[in-house]
This record gives sequence, C-alpha cells and structure tokens, in this order.
Amino acid sequence: MKMQFSKRMDYFKPGIFSVLAQMKNDRLKAGRRVIDISVGTPNIPPAQHIVDALIESASDRRNYIYALSDTKELQETVAAWYKRRYGVTLDPRTEVTSLLGSQDGLAHIALAVIDAGDTVLVQDPGYPIFSDGPVLAGAELYKLPQRPENGWLVDLGAIPEDVAKRAKFMIVSYPNNPVTSLATPSFYRDLVAFAKKYDIIVLHDNAYSELVFDGQTCGSFLEYAGAKDIGVEFNSLSKTYGLAGARIGFAVGNAHIVSMLKSLKSNLDYGMFLPIQKAAIAALSGPQDCVATTRCAYEARRNVLVEGLCAVGWPMEKPPATMFVWAKLPGSYKNSEAFTKELLDKSGVLVTPGSAFGKEGEGYVRLALVQDEETLSDAVRLIDESGILKK
Ligand SMILES: Cc1ncc(COP(=O)(O)O)c(C=O)c1O
Repeated sequence: MKMQFSKRMDYFKPGIFSVLAQMKNDRLKAGRRVIDISVGTPNIPPAQHIVDALIESASDRRNYIYALSDTKELQETVAAWYKRRYGVTLDPRTEVTSLLGSQDGLAHIALAVIDAGDTVLVQDPGYPIFSDGPVLAGAELYKLPQRPENGWLVDLGAIPEDVAKRAKFMIVSYPNNPVTSLATPSFYRDLVAFAKKYDIIVLHDNAYSELVFDGQTCGSFLEYAGAKDIGVEFNSLSKTYGLAGARIGFAVGNAHIVSMLKSLKSNLDYGMFLPIQKAAIAALSGPQDCVATTRCAYEARRNVLVEGLCAVGWPMEKPPATMFVWAKLPGSYKNSEAFTKELLDKSGVLVTPGSAFGKEGEGYVRLALVQDEETLSDAVRLIDESGILKK
C-alpha cells in the first residue's frame, strides 16, 4: 500500500538535528566521548518532598481514574503561588488551567485562537514550538526579530501597521530561550498597549522566571495593568522544580482565553494524572529552598562555561537568566550549522546551531547548561584543545 501523509508533516522534515544525532551516535559507537549541551533537558532532580507526595498519591489505587479536570486544590495552589511570587491575583476557578507541560499548551493554544490564514506574531530567534503550534493550526507567521542593538527584545514599534491590524495572536517570552534576555517594565507596558490598540491576544511564556541570576529577579507579565484583558501567561515546573518528565505546566490570566483552552484540552486529553497534580501542589506550596539551590547550580555552571570559554579565546556574554548561553560564533566562522558540525567532529562537544531558532539566529550557537560543572570544564578544555578557536 502506498501510504500518503499530510503536507503538514513536511514542516517537520529531518534537518540538521538528524545529521547531528547521527554524528553523535557514530562517535559514541566508536567509543569516543560526546558532551551534549545541545538540548535543554534539565538534569537537576526534584526535591524529596515532591517525590514523596507523588509516591504517596500513586500508592492509592483510587487515583488511577481519569482526572478529567484540575482539582480545586491544584487551582488554588497555583493562584496562591502567583499571589506570593508575583503579587498577581487570580480567580482559581476561571483564570487557571493546568497543562501537560507548557509544551502541550504551546502546541495547542493556536487551535483555540486562530483560523487557517490568520496572522500570528512570533519572535526570531525563538523557541520552536512558538511557531510550530500556530503553523499546525494554519497560521501565517510574521517574525519579530530579536537583535543585540535592541537589547535582544522584539521592537514593537517596527511592526508595520498593516501587519499589526491583521495579527490576531502573538507569542512572546522573557527570560528568553535562546537569547536569554529579560524584558523591562516599559516593554511590558508597551506590549499591553500595542495588543489593546490592535486587538491582539498575547501569550507570554514565563518558563524561566525562577532562573534569573546575579541576585536579580523578574516578575510576571500579568503584573502590568490591563494584561489580563488581553492575554495569558504560561509557566512550567520543568526547570524550576526539576520535573520535566512529569509534564507539569499551567496557563493563567484572561478567563475567556483560559476557558477556550480548557474546552479544547477537555476534548484532546482527560486531564493530568492525579498523583502528578499532588506533586505539583507539593512543589508550589512546599519549602522553596530547592528553587534557590537549582538557580545557584545553573549560575555556577554558567560561570564555569562562560569564564572558561572566554579565557581560551571564545568571547561571549554571561546570560542574565535561563539555562542557556547564546554565543556569537568564534573567529571567522559565519555559518552556525557548519560550525556545530566541526565543533562536534573536532571536540566532541555538541551545541545547537542558532539557525535552528530562526533566520535571525544565524551567526550564533546555543549552549545549554545541562551538565555539571566538572563536565562543562571538560567541554572548555576539549574545545580549546581541538584548535577550533585558532582558525
Ligand atoms: C521557553 C520554553 N517554553 C516552554 C518549554 C517547554 O517546557 P515544558 O517542559 O513545560 O513543556 C521550554 C522547554 O525547554 C522552553 O524553553
């Protein structure tokens, strides 16, 4: 039988990632070392009290039914965390919904907001699902460049009037993956005013709000006057509490958007496993020293990697936040895919080419702080010894 699949799948054609995966496997098969700092897979485990809550709940055989919806306890815990952490008041019943990881919401929300052919504004470089979700829903993307001359923020003033008028939905995220920038209060005020002026629904992804370094912190987009009229914020327990595999995120904010997302999701999945809901409650309401410990671990890794690479001749900035370093290609290198391949080949260190995050990412690579300090020191030494920085 000749099987035919949707044109949609052409969008996910194997590209540079399959080439790099093959190179990595070949190298490992040959018994050679690979230090993989390409994918943002957090490797810091959750605190014991979170695991205990999960185990206790998973031991109760009554908890294996479909959850169907969030428990009142989870909704209230998320609202209480938003109040404590950001000073934002949420109605637990109407302004909160869980997500099976924020990726779930990012993949699906466009289905609830747009119709085929609608215009969606997304960052470039940007986290891939911000574009992939809308594209799967049939969106026309309009890319908003993030450049160093603009503090690595999107320039709302540069969006042409006709694009703003036809845009229906916009996804922005700070602290930003991959470029690591933090937005200013004036940026958020301008964002709310822009969205109101042109009737654009805004999704702000705050996945890295707890990974801000050097004694700084950041808030929530919902702290700004009028934000709840036009948008929602996504958050995730993956990085903050080391729960990536448990798939826990949430969307909060505008009740109408939250209800549309809930309605869509109720038709796609049957809710979050009840023991996972208990783990989320334990994480958000229990002792928070684990969050500071995680933040310190990423900050220490950042210092080892960035200071080490600068010392051996690859200049780069220390990121103010996130679990990533966004580095300009060293020396005379211009093509991020070619550089990534050569780096893996010569040093065994695997990074992500900046072009994987959009056209504007060309000329950069992203290094993820997903290995311990000792391994990151080894990565620095291997890169230095490879001679790649001498070219
Ligand atoms: C900016 C951003 N948003 C969302 C996610 C997805 O996180 P989750 O594990 O909650 O699906 C990631 C994961 O790397 C991310 O970098």
